Amino acid sequence: MMARALEWIDGRLRMLDQSELPEDQVFVNLDNYRDVVSAIKEMRVRGAPAIGVAAAYGIALGASSIEAANKDDFLTQLNQITQTFAASRPTAVNLFRAIGRMKKAAEGDDIAEMKKSLINEAKRIHEEEETATKELSRLGADLLKDGCTVLTHCNAGPLATAGYGTALGVIKAAKEQGKKVSVFVTETRPLLQGARLTAWELMEEGIPVTLITDSMAGYFMRRREIDCVIVGADRIAANGHTANKIGTYSLAVLANAHGIPFYVAAPTSTIDLSLTSGYQIPIEERSPEEVTHIKGIPIAPKGVRAANPAFDVTPHAYITAIITEKGIIRAPYTEGLRTIVSESS
Ligand code: MRU
Repeated sequence: MMARALEWIDGRLRMLDQSELPEDQVFVNLDNYRDVVSAIKEMRVRGAPAIGVAAAYGIALGASSIEAANKDDFLTQLNQITQTFAASRPTAVNLFRAIGRMKKAAEGDDIAEMKKSLINEAKRIHEEEETATKELSRLGADLLKDGCTVLTHCNAGPLATAGYGTALGVIKAAKEQGKKVSVFVTETRPLLQGARLTAWELMEEGIPVTLITDSMAGYFMRRREIDCVIVGADRIAANGHTANKIGTYSLAVLANAHGIPFYVAAPTSTIDLSLTSGYQIPIEERSPEEVTHIKGIPIAPKGVRAANPAFDVTPHAYITAIITEKGIIRAPYTEGLRTIVSESS
């Protein structure tokens, strides 16, 4: 049984520190919302759905510690807490959806009751991500043929979702259906989520995995060793353009050039219909030090300029299908995405 990425235990948030994996499984018990904000910024918890779940629990923790004279005072302080979370990471829309839901859950006049309903809402958001990722994985597994080889990028497994997984969930579900599936995983520079987390999760699941560097993908595609690509998503715009870990766009272009299907797997909580185009998605810029160093060790000349966009946008034209818990959507995406989102709201 895999360790759970996030768990609410006795009024505290138990978090598996993903920055220590795969060497060590370190759990931290957080009871201060500021520590949850730091964990999100420092990517001790990461992956779009997991960021949303962590933020929801963090807001519940923050709300519990508010000492307020009246309801207005409580809501003012709650608003400050949610703003701190909103400023943590800009790209994954699950964070902003969770914040919106938590704000809505703070209803009524009794402050003690509001604190309780915030905890309950955070638990509900978590449960919904678990259910959605399990269901989308079941649906997506039908796309995988027995004996196929899938390439995936970054990490879109249980760690990233605080649930069953998205891209890795589809692979796990195909295995549960009795299919043999092998996986190529790109290491995913700069922070190596593929090498550190995806390789670890697949090995724990007993799924054959081959680790490659990001630059090797085209080589294996040309040799026809890859049957399809499946990735997760941080935000899907109304036109189907999808933001995901930096390097996803290059893989999609390569897959297209080689006639290989390219699938995006994500719960509906990752869809943002307020944006008509994916090019409106805010892209997080992280510290250049993540590029010039690996685990604190310098790998480039001191003082060199480095760029570090954490995500890129894959245009819908390169996406064969988007796998959600409400169904598998194909182009034209705007219509399909609008239909499933209106069904789930
Ligand atoms: O920067 P990260 O590690 O949070 O980026 C994560 C990804 O890009 C994942 O592919 C995405 O969040 C999907 S998680 C199911």
